[in-house]
Amino acid sequence: MTTLTRASGELRLEGVALSEIARRFGTPCYVYSRAAIEAAYREFDASLAGVEHLVCYAMKANSNLAVLDVLRRLGAGFDIVSGGELARVLAVGGEASKVLFSGVGKSEAEIDTALSHGIRCFNVESDQELERLDAIAGRRGVKAPVSLRVNPDVDAGTHPYISTGMAGNKFGIPHARAIEVYRKAAKLPNLRVTGIDCHIGSQILETAPLEEALDRVLGLVDALAHEGIALEHLDLGGGIGIRYRDEAPPDIHAYGRRLVERVRGRNLELLLEPGRAIVGNAGVLLTKVEYLKLDKARHFAVVDASMSELIRPALYDAWHEIVEAGDTGGRPRETYDVVGPVCESSDVLGRDRALAVRPGDLLAILSAGAYAMAMSSNYNTRPRPCEVMIDGETAHEVRAREPISALFSAERTLPR
Ligand code: LLP
Repeated sequence: MTTLTRASGELRLEGVALSEIARRFGTPCYVYSRAAIEAAYREFDASLAGVEHLVCYAMKANSNLAVLDVLRRLGAGFDIVSGGELARVLAVGGEASKVLFSGVGKSEAEIDTALSHGIRCFNVESDQELERLDAIAGRRGVKAPVSLRVNPDVDAGTHPYISTGMAGNKFGIPHARAIEVYRKAAKLPNLRVTGIDCHIGSQILETAPLEEALDRVLGLVDALAHEGIALEHLDLGGGIGIRYRDEAPPDIHAYGRRLVERVRGRNLELLLEPGRAIVGNAGVLLTKVEYLKLDKARHFAVVDASMSELIRPALYDAWHEIVEAGDTGGRPRETYDVVGPVCESSDVLGRDRALAVRPGDLLAILSAGAYAMAMSSNYNTRPRPCEVMIDGETAHEVRAREPISALFSAERTLPR
């Protein structure tokens, strides 16, 4: 569902013109559409109708409290990867019983806190983590719910930096060792083996590798059942891609229906952990053109957003569509590299973009709802932008722009 439209030349997100957002809140600014987030979540949820299921939003994609709260109200669970993310879920009144804890490096403190809140399940990634979890649960006198993250060794066909399901990757327990590690888990006194999971990568555009991963994991479920280890849930992770440019992302409904077909009648709850597909195209990064540098060799549009606010182009060579937010009045377009003020040659938001812009004009960098603010930094002592959520005709500031003083308020000079 797209909630981005253009009327009389003006780009609007839901019922609000982006120029109005810039006037009220300044730039750079992330702007999210509540309706788009809700529609994407509902599509996942509805696609799994007919089997017991829970869609656990992978909040690393965008962990703003308002985003979490909108999803919590719809009944979403959450996939977390740190104690910080758990704190955010609890801050919006999320139920720990709908929280999955993923990640290869859970610390003792993180595990202990998560146990104290009674989260739904730990997605365990190694033998040593299993032992650590058992020991901490023992000290607390509880049984920790465990799922093993299995690396199914399938090629997700995505960027190597965001592909996680192949052998030789740091993630998960190799498929060949899964049964042996399950046997061990089943013997540890303070663990309760409840599920199995995998996550093979991100920005996946074909569902075949995901379905292959499901089949491999279902094979393990059957083998484990033979050994008397009955699992209650299967978590297929996230990874469904979105359209940034001209990609044809999978149809979520069709994907969900195929998963349902495969698990129906098995007495397994189906869990998914989508992140990008829920929020990615629900947000834009609004930025203002500061200068046009018209060098002979190249034309640059220098904007007030940078790699500090959107690192994906610099980090993955990712493409984000960049469009004029206001009326261009039919002026001819010229080709620019859209660059930020940060002192790095890689501070490029888009190369060779045809734009009709003048200094002071607004640009919208699209598909910035996922892994944008979430991966932002204060590099060059740049305050993080504000975040605004549109709800119909109303714009809510859901995070204030960072005051510069806050950037160094925790720092101290040496005693004189
Ligand atoms: N579950 C696990 C265990 C994950 O590691 C991830 C993402 C997800 C779920 C959600 O994946 P999604 O549905 O969003 O694809 N920063 C990169 C993406 C890194 C993804 C890391 N793991 C980017 O900007 O493209």
